[in-house]
Amino acid sequence: MTGDSWGERIGGRSAVVGVIGQGYVGLPLALVFCEAGFPVIGFDLDPAKVAALTRGESYIRHIGPERVAAARRKDRFIATTDLGLLRECHAIVICVPTPLGPHREPDNSYIHATAREIAERLRPGQLVVLESTTYPGTTDGEVLEILRRSGLDTPRDFLLAFSPEREDPGRKDHTTRTIPKIVGGVNPESTRAAAALYGAALERVVVVASARVAESAKLLENVFRSVNIALVNELKVIFDRMGIDVWEVIRAAETKPFGFMPFYPGPGLGGHCIPLDPFYLSWKAAEHGEWAHFIELAGEINQRMPAWVVGKVAEALNEDGKAVRNSRVLVLGLAYKANVDDDRESPSYEILELLGERGARVDYCDPHFPRTHRTRRHDLGLESVPVDARVFAAYDAVVVATAHEAFKQRELFRYARLVVDTRNLVGPLFPEGDGPRIVKA
Ligand SMILES: NC(=O)c1ccc[n+]([C@@H]2O[C@H](COP(=O)([O-])OP(=O)(O)OC[C@H]3O[C@@H](n4cnc5c(N)ncnc54)[C@H](O)[C@@H]3O)[C@@H](O)[C@H]2O)c1
Repeated sequence: MTGDSWGERIGGRSAVVGVIGQGYVGLPLALVFCEAGFPVIGFDLDPAKVAALTRGESYIRHIGPERVAAARRKDRFIATTDLGLLRECHAIVICVPTPLGPHREPDNSYIHATAREIAERLRPGQLVVLESTTYPGTTDGEVLEILRRSGLDTPRDFLLAFSPEREDPGRKDHTTRTIPKIVGGVNPESTRAAAALYGAALERVVVVASARVAESAKLLENVFRSVNIALVNELKVIFDRMGIDVWEVIRAAETKPFGFMPFYPGPGLGGHCIPLDPFYLSWKAAEHGEWAHFIELAGEINQRMPAWVVGKVAEALNEDGKAVRNSRVLVLGLAYKANVDDDRESPSYEILELLGERGARVDYCDPHFPRTHRTRRHDLGLESVPVDARVFAAYDAVVVATAHEAFKQRELFRYARLVVDTRNLVGPLFPEGDGPRIVKA
């Protein structure tokens, strides 16, 4: 396709954008393209998600159903399981999962499967963009190799780029449209085409030299978070031994107007990004004979946090003359972070499981999850108890794992016997110190 006809398609909003994977990343992206005036086809393997979107409903709480309904009303958005419609698309954006295998190795099988589906239907003039987080070399190596099986090549017939998603579910100050979008193609033609597409729907596009730079930039962002969270988690354990409150230390340090950025401790990492993505890079580094020490160390420290929290619960119960066995323990929050309905990789599951293994009678409370999900590693089969002070008072210990707004009420904790707080949520509710016994963990 010539630059001109691509430019006209983008400028005239006649380019059909296909987004494969209608999850936490793909759905908001599809909506942003619709809202910018493009006709969009949202592809997903899951018929339940496709059915909900077709009815104009959102199944992700922080993505308002009104946005899906509006896109459907304007006739700009269809959701489908039929990959045959890929032929109708001028641009195809891949937003499928990139999990880890059982030995913490990258699992690119979703990307490969999707690339094979595209290759079978690839036609001249199409732009393919990978958004799923992955190690450098996936786009210009694995994906390109699969697409070439179609008999077509880039830049002659099709275009191929990587553009990492920077979605932060639940965040209100930055949105899919306003977060700058990094774009790097496997050749300059691809970079230009992808930059033009995103530039028509998003506020700012940051063009980089290659798909590999774009892939690496995303990993740098996530490694940065993982390492800094690990650092503050390690300091929490050290300061705890010294009888120093890490939250007070951070509050003091963050008054420095330069050269410091606060990170906060917690019960461990969660979500689809920070606990997983850094290992994509450490795995790839090994292939090049290098060790990613910081990544491995940060992973080890962060993964130790649920067990450390459970140790603090045991200590605190012991001080009350109680054993963990047969104590009633309530974990507040199943989501991996505040105010979202996403429990992927949430450390709450491990805390519940470790407490259960020690014989505690565990429950959880999370208004976003009526019951626990079956996950890769856990099948707890629990139902949420209500957010209610009388309910909380019935437990020997209440463990705060997620700082949901719904929990930020003084009255809820007034009669709690013991609070083990990993988020510094309860202390600030009782500035006079007239609340329950609080152990920070
Ligand atoms: N969730 C986040 O906050 C976030 C942020 C930045 C980047 N990412 C990255 O974006 C990617 C997607 O993450 P997500 O959170 O949207 O995952 P998700 O699980 O919410 O969504 C992925 C969707 O893809 C669908 N799918 C899987 N294989 C498919 C196929 N072959 N064809 C069509 N649909 C298919 C699944 O049914 C699912 O609905 C991952 O690489 C992730 O690391 C996620």
